[in-house]
Amino acid sequence: MTDGKALMAAAQKARENSYSPYSHFRVGAALLTKSGKIYTGCNIENAAYPATVCAERTAIFKAVSEGEREFEAIAIVGGKEGETAPFCAPCGVCRQVMAEFCPPDFTLYLGNEEHFERYTLDMVLPFSFTNRDLS
Ligand code: THU
Repeated sequence: MTDGKALMAAAQKARENSYSPYSHFRVGAALLTKSGKIYTGCNIENAAYPATVCAERTAIFKAVSEGEREFEAIAIVGGKEGETAPFCAPCGVCRQVMAEFCPPDFTLYLGNEEHFERYTLDMVLPFSFTNRDLS
């Protein structure tokens, strides 16, 4: 059983690998699968700025590429180089990617290792357009 605290710690650790020489904003994410595995990710920037990938999508794409499709929760930790922000919200693109694979009650742990809160996907992405709209 992985709790929020352990998932936040995994996100914080993943943040150490952030490649962010342009923004100097370092993000780590840890994604928990329904089967109990953890996939981590960090943001990976690029000299051609739009080629940058966020930490959350790195973690999700790693997991999906390994055959995982069912997810329980994600923890996200971010902040400027040398400090950890009290709160780092996922960007809109990452929220949309979560909506592709995760149910409305999917958990997001946002904050930092010391203090974080639990949110759900439908709280952070209300009125979403998903594959359910296409069926
Ligand atoms: N970033 C993430 O990794 N996740 C988010 O949800 C917010 C933004 C990254 C992208 C970029 O490398 C840096 O933070 C500044 O936007």
